[in-house]
Parts: sequence; C-alpha cells; structure tokens
Amino acid sequence: MPAKKSHAMLMGSVLLLGSSQLMAAPSASMLANTCAGCHGTNGVSTGPAAPTIAGKSAEYIKEVMEYYKDGSRHSTIMGRIAKGYSDEEVALMADYYAKQKFVSAAPKQKLDADKIKAGKKVYKKNCAKCHDENGRLPDDDSGILGGQWLPYLQYTMQDYRDGRQEMTKKMKKKVDKLDDAQIEAVLQFFASQD
Ligand code: HEC
Ligand code: HEC
Repeated sequence: MPAKKSHAMLMGSVLLLGSSQLMAAPSASMLANTCAGCHGTNGVSTGPAAPTIAGKSAEYIKEVMEYYKDGSRHSTIMGRIAKGYSDEEVALMADYYAKQKFVSAAPKQKLDADKIKAGKKVYKKNCAKCHDENGRLPDDDSGILGGQWLPYLQYTMQDYRDGRQEMTKKMKKKVDKLDDAQIEAVLQFFASQD
C-alpha cells in the first residue's frame, strides 16, 4: 500500500533526523521556520500586517528583538515571541535574515499615484536625512521602510503618533509637524518603492 510505504519512509527520515540533527543545537534556518508563518519564507512577508524582515541589518534585528523582549518596543505579538529565544538564537536568526534578499511589496499593493507624488516631497523635506535611499538602504539602523507593506507602515506610524511607541526626538519633531494627509502620503511613497 503506497500510503503505508510513505509512512514508513517518513518514519525512517524522522529516525535519521533523530540520530544526527535533533541532538545538535537548532540551526538558523530551523529557528527561522517558526517565523515564516507570519514573515514569509526567507523573511519576505506576504503581508499585510507583518513586515518583511529579509535584508535588514543583523544589528537592527537583534536590537529590535531585545526591545520586544524587555517591552521597550510596543508590539501586538512580538513581545511574547521574542521572549522564547535566547540571545544566541536571536543572533543566529538575525544573521540569517540579514543575508536574505529584501523583496519589495510594492507590486502587490494598491497605491494612489497622487499620494505617492505628494509623499515624495514630504519625504525629501522630513525623512530623507535618516531614512536614506527612499527608505531602502539595507544597512540602515532605521529599518527598511521602502517597499514595506502599507498597512504595517500605517500601524507603526499610528503607534508612534498615539504615543504607544516612543520616537527618536529628531524624528518626532518632523512627524509632529505633519497632518494626517501628509503622513498617509509619505507612507504611500515608502510603500511604492520597488
Ligand atoms: C504570529 C505572527 C508572527 C510570528 C510567528 C513572528 N512575527 Fe515578527 N512580527 C509580527 C508582527 C505583527 C510584527 C509587528 C510588531 C507587532 O505588532 O508585534 C512583527 C515584527 C517583527 C520585527 C520588526 C521588524 C521591523 O521592521 O522593525 C522583527 C525583527 C521580527 N518581527 C522578527 C521575528 C522573528 C525573528 C520571528 C521568529 C522567531 C518572528 N518575528 C515571528 C508577526 C510575527
Ligand atoms: C532623525 C532621524 C529620523 C528622521 C528625521 C525620521 N526618522 Fe523614522 N526612524 C528613525 C529611526 C532611528 C528609526 C528606528 C526605530 C527607532 O529607533 O525609533 C525610525 C523608524 C521609523 C518607522 C518604523 C520602522 C519599523 O519598521 O518599525 C517609521 C514608519 C518611520 N521611522 C517613519 C518616518 C517618517 C515618515 C519620517 C519623516 C516624516 C521619519 N521617519 C523621519 C529615524 C528618523
């Protein structure tokens, strides 16, 4: 019976795994499997509320996970998830994700051309200094905003503006000057980056 046979094969491979890999410390890609459900395979999120984390600097990912763990960064779920991992495990995953290719979510999103145009001006004047290269600089310690899912950017910005999450002082000075339409425009601009 084919079903039985494949079952036996499966058992065989589980046993093989048991003798070799299960005893060793989990590898980076094994650890990252638990993140894939939300952040997508290799960290490229299929959206819209979970950010793409592929290609972000390892430093950034490690720092963010630390802040989720100690509660200094607001989150809906990452606080709980981050607590489940040791610093060594986080470092392994951070290196793994830093090496993956960032893939823009722009082609999959419905965006508004007028808002993107207006957002470009807002960006140049208020955000470009820190969020380099239209928010696409991979090594940026400010994360990657360009090509990110719009809903994720909107939630994050709402957390900042409602005070659930603290902004760096200089960013707050810029953000506080902007009205809702300007904020929406600049987030559309970031989301539109290929
Ligand atoms: C159940 C869904 C889910 C799982 C599983 C998950 N995440 Fe997240 N992740 C999110 C959401 C949603 C956010 C946005 C913050 C929040 O609301 O918690 C996020 C945010 C992040 C960020 C911040 C990204 C940025 O640009 O600042 C990092 C880094 C991250 N997750 C890493 C991980 C790692 C590593 C794992 C696996 C150990 C993981 N996540 C598992 C849903 C998830
Ligand atoms: C003085 C530097 C600076 C300026 C100016 C600045 N930012 Fe930021 N921004 C940061 C840093 C640093 C972070 C990383 C998180 C943190 O430390 O708060 C960040 C994070 C963010 C995030 C969250 C990223 C994530 O994945 O969690 C968003 C959204 C954002 N900035 C939007 C903007 C917008 C829109 C502007 C312009 C109106 C702007 N920022 C101007 C420094 C800046």
